[in-house]
Amino acid sequence: TPAPVARAVALAFEPVPIAVRDSVVVPDGYTAEVLYAWGDPTGIRGRMPAFKPDASNTAAEQAVQAGMHHDGMAYFALPFGAQSSRRGLLAINHEYIDDGLLHPDGMKDWSEAKVAKAQAAVGVSVIEVEHAGDNWRVVRPSSFARRITAQTPCDIAGPARGHALMRTEADPKGTTVLGTFNNCANGQTPWGTYLTCEENWSDFFANNGTLTEDDKRYGIKAQDAGYRWSERDFRFDRQVTPNEPYRFGWVVEIDPYDAKSRPVKRTALGRVKHEGATVSLAPDGRVVVYMGDDQRFEYIYKFVSSGKYKPHDRKANRTLLDQGTLYVARFDDDNGGRWLPLVHGQHGLTADNGFRDQAEVLIHTRRAADKVGATKMDRPEWIAVHPERPWELYCTLTNNSERGTDGKPGTDAANPRAKNIFGHIIRWQEAGNDPTSDSFKWDLFALAGNPTLDGASKGTVNGDAFGSPDGLKFSSNGILWIQTDVSTSTLNQKEYANMGNNQMLATLPETGQVRRFLTGPNGCEITGLAFTPDNRTLFVNIQHPGETSSERSDPAQPKAVSSWPDGDAGGRPRSATVVIRRRDGGVIGV
Ligand code: FEO
Ligand code: CA
Ligand code: CA
Ligand code: CA
Repeated sequence: TPAPVARAVALAFEPVPIAVRDSVVVPDGYTAEVLYAWGDPTGIRGRMPAFKPDASNTAAEQAVQAGMHHDGMAYFALPFGAQSSRRGLLAINHEYIDDGLLHPDGMKDWSEAKVAKAQAAVGVSVIEVEHAGDNWRVVRPSSFARRITAQTPCDIAGPARGHALMRTEADPKGTTVLGTFNNCANGQTPWGTYLTCEENWSDFFANNGTLTEDDKRYGIKAQDAGYRWSERDFRFDRQVTPNEPYRFGWVVEIDPYDAKSRPVKRTALGRVKHEGATVSLAPDGRVVVYMGDDQRFEYIYKFVSSGKYKPHDRKANRTLLDQGTLYVARFDDDNGGRWLPLVHGQHGLTADNGFRDQAEVLIHTRRAADKVGATKMDRPEWIAVHPERPWELYCTLTNNSERGTDGKPGTDAANPRAKNIFGHIIRWQEAGNDPTSDSFKWDLFALAGNPTLDGASKGTVNGDAFGSPDGLKFSSNGILWIQTDVSTSTLNQKEYANMGNNQMLATLPETGQVRRFLTGPNGCEITGLAFTPDNRTLFVNIQHPGETSSERSDPAQPKAVSSWPDGDAGGRPRSATVVIRRRDGGVIGV
């Protein structure tokens, strides 16, 4: 039985100042220690190669080490079903790569071996962690440790399994796909599985022929975003493997308690650029999953399962995400809203309009959502569910500099700022206090901004300034944690001048007061967080420290911007999971 969680009534840490420092800064009385950085061995028995600071680890070594660009993350207590805050598993996304840092000489002499290493540096880590003595450590070896990469076989489940569009020469049945990548935010189910979300997967594909409708709607171009996988692995060349892109853009369910289990792509949840997959439970036991599609003018979705969660039947729960209804949100100007079902045959989702069956509605989710008239949002990122009110949701709309510009959608009540540089957080409450409801009421929780600027840039934040909110999650005691992702091209400059490095803040919905809890090293994004059940340990991910404003780091000067976490002695900056504790062992934030 878990110890009851005391609701936080006030934030009780001294806020940290805005900072441009090459370190993780936390409030007085707190510690932050690196736990698991890019290249650290995952802990797979017999295969624990040390990180080589010159980035000369091979692809095979990288496949059993921490990937790059840590992002969403969740903690699973050990053993399964326990509430241990001293021993557990962390499932960690490795969103993408910086080839300038990944190889000793960057992208020079591009080769199959370099593509293989890049493919091994994305995906997900599962590590075992333990609080022994005063410190958390990665347990090595551990029978739970595993890496999921762009080459790990994943099952395809749900309505699109086996569909003609899901079949390739390598997988004529359309039931198995190699790998997952661009795993951004995440979710966690009550039955102890991890949901990892495929976001900017289109960046890895190229189609140098005539672009298809799908290419245009999801952003596949003649060339990829510079990763150059398609030159050596024809799976990523749409001219050669036209259906492979349909096999990405899904939410993937992973059982962290079984290192041999196959990840499963849950097609019932739709194919978009999935940011996260936040789970809520309805009073009748149905499972609701909230999801953002992070691109300018894209939508917010939710999935409602047909079946009900059965607390003691893990096997039955493992198929709950295969049957149900996917909805997309319309935010009306009167602060009401509707969930519009994406169901074949309804609201124009018919064969005449290019949707032959439900699988095609799901494969072409964005086009289906266009058809039913959903609200185009300012880049939906994470969605947080209130721990005591599972019908109350918060979503970060990170920014949208194109809102209201020539030829683009103008403002509306839910996206009220033209050229929305700083972003906002929207909140809604489902009708009848039921997450399965088809209507809701919404309001703007905060418009982010810079209080030193006038007018629309100022925002409505009560407390410490921030912009480009992205990571968003409640701890079980009711504190809402906000993480920022200001792009390196504007970090601490232009409109973001004097706003410092990316950061993490805390707020209580009751007061709306915001306090800065953490600032990150130079060039990083703060993204991904997980608490132990007792809220006395917080894991936070530091993504891409040292990122420069050019597309990839210069391997000749890898430490030009940051040398975190290894400092002068290290070879290059590394994304990492950090453990945050209070020196007196108390609950974080209060
Ligand atoms: Fe990977 Fe939208 O952040
Ligand atoms: Ca994000
Ligand atoms: Ca972001
Ligand atoms: Ca990022």
